Amino acid sequence: LVQAAIKARENAVAPFSKYKVGAALRTAAGKVYNGCNVENCTYGLTVCAERVALLSALAAGEREFTAIAVATQSDEPGTPCGPCRQLMWEYCGDIDVTLANLTGKRVEYKLSTLFPHPFNFCPED
Ligand code: THU
Repeated sequence: LVQAAIKARENAVAPFSKYKVGAALRTAAGKVYNGCNVENCTYGLTVCAERVALLSALAAGEREFTAIAVATQSDEPGTPCGPCRQLMWEYCGDIDVTLANLTGKRVEYKLSTLFPHPFNFCPED
């Protein structure tokens, strides 16, 4: 999954920050959806790699997920922003989160560790 995230990072559209991020989200059935950050000249409409992966999986009809890997080029692997943590919690539950840099560092969390007091307001299915 980390290799998929590293590969997805290559497609990042980050001309403003130059900070490229890749994400790879695994479904319960084992399929992997990739994402990269996509920036925009208003800055505010930028979408993170994690959300691109998640929204593309949801748009493809996926609803159950087990793990996400996120890849950045930084000394310490980058951690997901707050809004991405909220969305991952809502749609993925307590998945495994692996953060990786390009030199082999890996940090593993359960999402509940990164996002301990979530806002929960989900309608019954
Ligand atoms: N970014 C992500 O794609 N994922 C994160 O977890 C944090 C930030 C992106 C947004 C922006 O394009 C760039 O990284 C710098 O903030």
